[in-house]
Amino acid sequence: MQAIVEYQNQFSEFLNTYNVEREPKNLYQPIKYILNLGGKRLRPVLTLMTTACFDGDVDRAMDAALAVEVFHNFSLIHDDIMDAAPLRRGQETVHEKWDLNTGILSGDAMLIRAYQLFENYPPETFRELAKLFSKTALEVCEGQQYDIDFETRLQVSIPEYLKMIECKTAVLVGAAMQMGAIVANAPIEDQVRCYDFGKNLGIAFQLQDDYLDAFGNPEIFGKQVGGDILENKKTYLFLKAIENGSPEVRTELTQLFQNNALKPENKVSKTLELFVRSEANIATKAAISFYTKAAFDVLETINISGPNKQILKDFGTELMTRDV
Ligand code: IPE
Ligand code: IPE
Ligand code: MG
Ligand code: MG
Ligand code: MG
Repeated sequence: MQAIVEYQNQFSEFLNTYNVEREPKNLYQPIKYILNLGGKRLRPVLTLMTTACFDGDVDRAMDAALAVEVFHNFSLIHDDIMDAAPLRRGQETVHEKWDLNTGILSGDAMLIRAYQLFENYPPETFRELAKLFSKTALEVCEGQQYDIDFETRLQVSIPEYLKMIECKTAVLVGAAMQMGAIVANAPIEDQVRCYDFGKNLGIAFQLQDDYLDAFGNPEIFGKQVGGDILENKKTYLFLKAIENGSPEVRTELTQLFQNNALKPENKVSKTLELFVRSEANIATKAAISFYTKAAFDVLETINISGPNKQILKDFGTELMTRDV
């Protein structure tokens, strides 16, 4: 297996051949814009690496990897509309740079283009990939709906939160890996283990995303730090602060999250102070470690070589210590 950066480079080259000029410009330019903004390319790289782990043909996995990345970028355009987010990867979000309608329609077109990429596979592989993709995409919608529903609910349990992030984020990471295994014709048991590894990694990944949204460095994070607080998101930080905080913390936090009239910087700084006072930041870090370890336990059971396992493990470890 090659180094991670090789897969990133190969994927970037493939993406460049996909991003063609088309009419109408107002539909296709935002697509090109979001895909060229960069990003970590975590999901497509996992697809390619999984194919390589089973000694499959990495070139054959490119279309599946691209489908996953195009879908992910579609979900980001719509997510930024839903979250009223001004910044994505350090640049203006699509609905800010263009407008709401452009964001909606370009996003829709991306979802369709993602599906189209599976047409490049023979019938049986097409069926398997499209089936997994449809199931996953629907779960992402479900997760996004829970996320929005929770904004206006004060009582959200940790299991409800975990279900929400599993759907909105983790299943796509799992599916990205299973697709790589499908392309390599890996046995179904190993496909499922790959999915479970990715799913646990995805849960840890979203927990880390919540953490960075609150405590990340605005200079490098690329998104508006404090955005989740301003949107009253029921993140792990919030739920743990309510669970473990003193009665005063609980009262203050509850009031802050029902008040949308506060100056944004005050709401963010007061909330962060309560997160720290209740040690919700520490609890979140512990949960990130827990799910990363759960992913590594599944990894041990996959029938791939020791060195290949180590590469996936290094990749997971790097993700959890990221600051972007
Ligand atoms: C952002 O995903 C959305 C989440 C599921 C947290 P990434 O953090 O992978 O975003 P990019 O693609 O690297 O920008
Ligand atoms: C994103 O969750 C999940 C999807 C895009 C489906 P977030 O709303 O936390 O993602 P970011 O932080 O905006 O990237
Ligand atoms: Mg968002
Ligand atoms: Mg969101
Ligand atoms: Mg986030």
